[in-house]
Amino acid sequence: MKSDIMTDQTSKLIHDGSEYELPVVRGSENETALDISKLRAKTGLITYDPGYANTGSCKSAITFINGEEGILHYRGYPIEQLAERSTFLETSWLLIHGELPTREELDGFTETITRHTMLHENFRGFFGALPKNAHPMPVTAATVGALSTFYQEAETEESIRQTIVRLLAKFPTIAAWAYKHSIGQPFIYPNNNLDYPSNFLNMMFSTPCEDYEVDPVVARALDMLLILHADHEQNCSTSTVRMVGSSQANLYASISAGISALWGRLHGGANQKVIEMLDAIAERGESAEDFVARAKDRDNPARLMGFGHRVYKNYDPRAKVLKQACTDVVEALGSSSQQLEIAMKLEEIALNDEFFIERRLFPNVDFYSGVIYKAIGIPVNMFTVMFAMGRMSGWIAQWLEMRRDPNFRIGRPRQVYTGPTRRDYVPVDQR
Ligand code: CMC
Repeated sequence: MKSDIMTDQTSKLIHDGSEYELPVVRGSENETALDISKLRAKTGLITYDPGYANTGSCKSAITFINGEEGILHYRGYPIEQLAERSTFLETSWLLIHGELPTREELDGFTETITRHTMLHENFRGFFGALPKNAHPMPVTAATVGALSTFYQEAETEESIRQTIVRLLAKFPTIAAWAYKHSIGQPFIYPNNNLDYPSNFLNMMFSTPCEDYEVDPVVARALDMLLILHADHEQNCSTSTVRMVGSSQANLYASISAGISALWGRLHGGANQKVIEMLDAIAERGESAEDFVARAKDRDNPARLMGFGHRVYKNYDPRAKVLKQACTDVVEALGSSSQQLEIAMKLEEIALNDEFFIERRLFPNVDFYSGVIYKAIGIPVNMFTVMFAMGRMSGWIAQWLEMRRDPNFRIGRPRQVYTGPTRRDYVPVDQR
């Protein structure tokens, strides 16, 4: 079957004196790739690409990134417009369904999500079985996996639709309960009168003794953070969700695996490192200039955390939005933030420094997100959980896209074997 990305172009590969034609495929933003799917059959060769940094594992119509120019689109819509004007639930619909919802669709979706936020009461026992200092991230991964034991129906279009609703609706409850468990406070049940971000904040910060009053500025900032984290194409956790789902594992199991992948400090943990860096600078009373000088020194392990990105060689568009939001939140809360002041000073120095200019190192999404989370009271060990809450809609959209692709195959990379060649077994006493 001719795919929609095939072109008439080919590229030539010369190997062992023979020539092979490799088809060229092209996406809607003119990204081109060599189709090597028949390479092994034709030539006996496989490709070697550690970390898949140069491998297009799928075609996808969800998210477009141009790291050179600092562009990020969800389904064609610039992230800046969505962050400013959309809501997380509307953006989730967009990612999952491909188009912005009509008023009727959005109202219906919001209503359904609002009515599925409760967890089965047995989850109280599930949380209770975990150590009291359990990190919230593995707790959420385990809970999402365990949801599949409560909903074991056969996979149909309707059951997948319900699973999507349950995941989006219950994740804030799971996240808040994981936090409450970690600090030994009673769980707070969802409140259907509150919107998505406010409901989460209420479950996080209310106690049976004291109601938490949700500040609309804080709720809006949180909603925007969720939008900014909702998808980022084929990164480590998303590829994990696709890989697990490619074996036809269900959505709960696939997303539980994605949460585990996100937990790693190379992926979801960078904003925590930014806060630790800012706190350490403040504690030492070090000047921003001195810290930047240390970060540039190749003999010093210090790095300017939250700067640089594998994909963005320009200002990460999410960081731009967040910088403004940071200032707004701190101002609205009427508090000052030493962390924000240091961050802004570091940014100013680094953006004018030859070292960072030459290497095209700009602030990434993590540079300011931690500062906002701290300002609104989210503890550091919940930062990655917040990331997972936003990424939920992207993971769902990517899983669905994979499963609906008529050319979908189980993920099965190959390897270049480097171990011993054939040798005979020697019994233990003769070794
Ligand atoms: N501070 C100081 N020097 C840096 C930094 C930094 N933050 N980032 C890169 N460099 C230097 C690096 O030492 C190297 O210098 P040289 O050419 O002299 O050897 C040069 O810049 C290129 O660095 P690299 O590590 O090869 O660049 P990369 O594109 O492979 O790495 C990165 C990207 C994100 C791992 C790196 O920039 C970094 O460690 N940044 C700090 C950690 C961070 O903020 N991580 C969050 C990334 S965003 C997460 C997400 O989107 O999910």
